[in-house]
Amino acid sequence: MPISGRWMKLDPDYPKLLEVAQQFYGDVQETLGSVLFERIEIQRKFYDESERALFETERYRKLRELVEVLPDGSGFLMPGARLNVPRFLSASRRWFSESGCVIEATLSAETPIEFAPEEVRIPSLGLTSRRVFFCTGAHDSLQDLFPGVPNHPVHGEILRIRLPEKLECDTSVCRHWVTPIHSGEKETPVFDYLVGATFDREHPGQGPTREGSLLLLRSAADLLQLSLGSDHVMEHQWGIRAAMKNRRVLIQRHRKYPQAAALNGLGSRGSLLAPTAARDMLNIMDQQPQQEKAAPAAGTVNLTAMAHTAVRRRYRSGDWLLDATAGNGHDTLFLAGLGEPSRVIAVDIQQTAIRQTQQRLADSGLQGVTLYHAEHAMALGTILDEGLVRDVGAVMFNLGYLPRSDHQLITRAETTIPALRHAIDLLRPGGVLTVLAYRGHSGGSEEAESVDQFFSETQAGQVSVIPGNTDDSSSPVLFLFQKSTSVNSDA
Ligand SMILES: Cc1cc2nc3c(=O)[nH]c(=O)nc-3n(C[C@H](O)[C@H](O)[C@H](O)COP(=O)(O)OP(=O)(O)OC[C@H]3O[C@@H](n4cnc5c(N)ncnc54)[C@H](O)[C@@H]3O)c2cc1C
Ligand SMILES: C[S@@+](CC[C@H](N)C(=O)[O-])C[C@H]1O[C@@H](n2cnc3c(N)ncnc32)[C@H](O)[C@@H]1O
Repeated sequence: MPISGRWMKLDPDYPKLLEVAQQFYGDVQETLGSVLFERIEIQRKFYDESERALFETERYRKLRELVEVLPDGSGFLMPGARLNVPRFLSASRRWFSESGCVIEATLSAETPIEFAPEEVRIPSLGLTSRRVFFCTGAHDSLQDLFPGVPNHPVHGEILRIRLPEKLECDTSVCRHWVTPIHSGEKETPVFDYLVGATFDREHPGQGPTREGSLLLLRSAADLLQLSLGSDHVMEHQWGIRAAMKNRRVLIQRHRKYPQAAALNGLGSRGSLLAPTAARDMLNIMDQQPQQEKAAPAAGTVNLTAMAHTAVRRRYRSGDWLLDATAGNGHDTLFLAGLGEPSRVIAVDIQQTAIRQTQQRLADSGLQGVTLYHAEHAMALGTILDEGLVRDVGAVMFNLGYLPRSDHQLITRAETTIPALRHAIDLLRPGGVLTVLAYRGHSGGSEEAESVDQFFSETQAGQVSVIPGNTDDSSSPVLFLFQKSTSVNSDA
């Protein structure tokens, strides 16, 4: 679809994306001898009067060459394309299987992957390869090799509804889409339609829901101008769509192992984006690592969000969560919102920071967090010695000074390193330690280096180091450490 979303914006990349997709799926069609891809006309219906007004007053001027307004004024027709995904997947799988190129297996944190300079080996599968690509959709498994890769999964559902006759329109979209998948013999055709949407960011993976079914039936009834009930529903499926917050596809080459890369977050219109994204990924792999700046994942990244994501992923119900540098309380608030506030401990050497954190928690109605006004190496050492706090799922460090406060009072390697040692001892297997170090203030860069050295001397291979901006050596840097769950967990 060249025009998408509630703002009906024209995608300037659409012609290029479509050209690459058409070429790619065309080649696949020819190889597989199966019709997979077709150009179609899509009905875009207005959701409400405000959408219609936006179209008429602002959008139409730019879109008039491309669209045809529906006679009843309920929307417009635009060009689009459709990929028969089930057919594409089954035919290509069959083709690869017949060529002997498919091994079905699950890679997990426990699967050892060996990276040699020119190759990648997965001994348990008997595989040796020049490169490895992780295209795992909305799954946690990427996190072990690419910690901090953003992932914002969205839950979606699809209904297959059966109608007694064929409708005039092909595919319709509004907030949801309806598309025909007719089948059957010529004499006894079956008029089935799929109606689907992704709509729930809060509860991905919850399975098919009654609410989802009602929502989709109502939407299909509106779009098709029909009365529909549960007796029309033949099948109810659900899925999780990998998505990035900024809606950009993520292509990330591993910073230490240039023969590994991740491609994720195809999200909506994934079928259109996939051929271009795959081509871009191959181009990136052919470049020297330092030339990678053009990749969408390069540039400044939000390290705080990455640290939070890493903690969120590893959190298990009942875990204790520790903030070693409470400061203004942002991380403490995040931890208290993630777990049980009564199992969150926050430490800071400054009374002001403790007060700010207390206030932030109170403003959010979160009670029960333990706040220690103390030096963190001492505080964590005491917690460790007492032995009362077990199952620590995460410890967060946010180094440097308290914003809008005395910039001389900063964290220093002399105490940070012993505190990190205690933090690692406190963590349960699989627990994470996040250390966000700022390198812009006096002493910051040296402290970050000490942290780096500490991890490489004591926890070699167990830590990921993610700079905020690869071009700027004074940008912050995030250290993500996960405590080993088993002897093989370095995959
Ligand atoms: C309800 C719904 C409606 C949608 N509608 C549309 C639409 O109309 N048009 C459109 O273009 N897109 C649509 N999408 C989005 C589309 O499905 C995605 O863009 C696309 O599936 C993403 O492809 P992917 O290969 O990146 O991820 P996925 O399709 O999620 O594939 C990832 C695969 O990796 C496997 N995997 C994960 N971890 C491991 C591991 N450790 N070891 C081995 N295998 C692993 C998974 O089992 C899975 O098979 C929709 C999505 C949903 C949920
Ligand atoms: C960058 S701030 C933390 C920001 C905080 N995480 C937030 O979300 O607002 C660093 C904090 O570390 C504290 N600090 C400095 N040295 C410390 C030490 N040795 N022990 C405990 N806290 C320390 C400072 O008082 C400051 O509040």
